[in-house]
Amino acid sequence: MENNCNCLNKIEKNACNLIQGLQAIQSHEGFVSKQSIAAAAKYFSVPEAEVEDLLSFYSQFRRSKPARFRVAVCDGTACHVKGGPMVLDWISAELRLKSGETDEKGLFSLETSVCLGCCNLAPAMSINGKVFGKLDHKTTVKILKDHRNSKQEHQ
Ligand code: FES
Repeated sequence: MENNCNCLNKIEKNACNLIQGLQAIQSHEGFVSKQSIAAAAKYFSVPEAEVEDLLSFYSQFRRSKPARFRVAVCDGTACHVKGGPMVLDWISAELRLKSGETDEKGLFSLETSVCLGCCNLAPAMSINGKVFGKLDHKTTVKILKDHRNSKQEHQ
């Protein structure tokens, strides 16, 4: 199977570089697909099972296509104390998702996150890396609805 992107071509064909190769694939396609696992295994001359094991071991790697809006609720200490678990419940109810899930349309995914680095804004969440802080129920739901509507406007 051919490598479906050129992202591996600059990396030396040495099994020690497998993680680097998978990072390059993920940054290119947003996740590591089944097809890319096969391509990486062939490129680095390792069994596909070894690539699968490595992907399972490191949480940085995603195995499925990311949602359009990736919601991450901070569960760092400051946010936890200031209501982070409640924010997660509000979002869960609004999106009908549990942490770790993606909706059927691939519009939203929900996860918890380590400290987002803005504890003075606790409780906080990020959507595609953009931070929203000092969240209350009304604000949280409005942010989600604004994102949902912005997607519909661009369809
Ligand atoms: S603990 Fe949430 S931003 Fe630091």
